[in-house]
Amino acid sequence: MGLTSKLAILRHDLLLLLRRNPSLPRLPLFTVPQLQAWSSLSSSSYTTTSISFHNSNSSSSIKGGSGIKAFSESASSTMVKAIRVHEPGGPEVLKWEDVEVGEPKEGEIKVKNKAVGLNFIDIYFRKGVYKAASLPFTPGMEAAGVVIAVGPGLTGREVGDLVAYAGNPMGAYAEEQILPADKVVPVPTSIDPIIAASIMLKGMTTQVLVRRCFKVEPGHTVLVHAAAGGVGSLLCQWANALGATVIGAVSTKEKAAQAKDDGCQHVIIYKDEDFVTRVNEITSGKGVEVVYDSVGKDTFEGSLACLKPRGYMVNFGQSSGMPDPVPLSALAAKSLFLTRPSMMQYTSTRDELLETAGEVFANVASGVLRVRVNHTYPLSQAAQAHSDLESRKTSGSVVLIPDAVNL
Ligand SMILES: NC(=O)c1ccc[n+]([C@@H]2O[C@H](COP(=O)([O-])OP(=O)(O)OC[C@H]3O[C@@H](n4cnc5c(N)ncnc54)[C@H](OP(=O)(O)O)[C@@H]3O)[C@@H](O)[C@H]2O)c1
Repeated sequence: MGLTSKLAILRHDLLLLLRRNPSLPRLPLFTVPQLQAWSSLSSSSYTTTSISFHNSNSSSSIKGGSGIKAFSESASSTMVKAIRVHEPGGPEVLKWEDVEVGEPKEGEIKVKNKAVGLNFIDIYFRKGVYKAASLPFTPGMEAAGVVIAVGPGLTGREVGDLVAYAGNPMGAYAEEQILPADKVVPVPTSIDPIIAASIMLKGMTTQVLVRRCFKVEPGHTVLVHAAAGGVGSLLCQWANALGATVIGAVSTKEKAAQAKDDGCQHVIIYKDEDFVTRVNEITSGKGVEVVYDSVGKDTFEGSLACLKPRGYMVNFGQSSGMPDPVPLSALAAKSLFLTRPSMMQYTSTRDELLETAGEVFANVASGVLRVRVNHTYPLSQAAQAHSDLESRKTSGSVVLIPDAVNL
């Protein structure tokens, strides 16, 4: 396909973004030269930040076995390295194996991943809290990479494009993966692939939380649990930028310092202090308009107690375990609203995906969001990364870099 038709398709995508995001034109994201640059992106045409890897002794193992595309004698040059899970369990079930990735079919593209985002949902799937469709499976729901092949007849995406995706299909912990072309978005040239891989899922989740589940406005007071986490860091910054008073709850002094820097006017160290009492003191007994609770079991009940009448309880995760069932009477006492959103349901159409990703990219480009990539690991050492995320040692975003990627 020629450059002109490619630009026409890209322009269509961008017009959708601009129509829904009036703030975009003032950003240096979509000038014509940049569109042209995007059209001709190659894997060597952008720079990456300098990265130091964590050391880890996590074991690798190469096994054949059944499943999606296991190693076989007849496999051709489509063999790549990927993490696979053969049975649910601890971080040790994440195995570094050879898999055959195949070629894209109609409507699909093949992407060489530059950076893979680590998310708590990967832990739920690894442990079997959420069930993968089949075993073995490759985890991962967030990545940025370069298109290296397009399916027959596909228009609008070309080899060399830098793209990112978040959500289904699972399988991002791989050097290469096949993706439906309509699930990826073009990454603006101003955004590094490592940054893109850290904000596609976490940033779009944040957009859903502060702009759609509950619209944060000036004058609101919001409570954010796990305020120094991957989503939490972005959530505090975005809510602050929307004019809210942000109360962040974290487990350590180090995380408290980061949360303050991310725009929390008040920080509660909920391992040492009773957060319900502290919220009561901070709000002079009034309570908060909304609680963003991703911790779940350990915080849910207290979160309800922090809300003012007609407040919004937004439970979007369960890092400490599933909350107990909630009787309606627990909401009736203050006429509370309760929602349990999934980012994927808010980005299921192409328009919604482009709109949401566009707003996130725009906020990164304008400086509203400063993305904290606090930890990077080689993809082969995903087990160490999982262990650290699960044991609350990480803050900000965690990114896995495919071992073959030359930074
Ligand atoms: N609904 C959606 O669409 C959606 C999308 C993305 C993420 N999420 C959810 O958002 C949450 C954050 O995800 P993330 O990837 O950004 O992870 P994260 O917040 O960076 O890591 C989880 C944090 O939760 C806190 N935590 C509290 N109790 C914990 C426990 N018992 N075990 C482990 N962590 C505990 C820890 O912070 P402290 O040490 O400060 O307590 C920990 O750092 C997760 O629950 C995830 O499932 C939901």
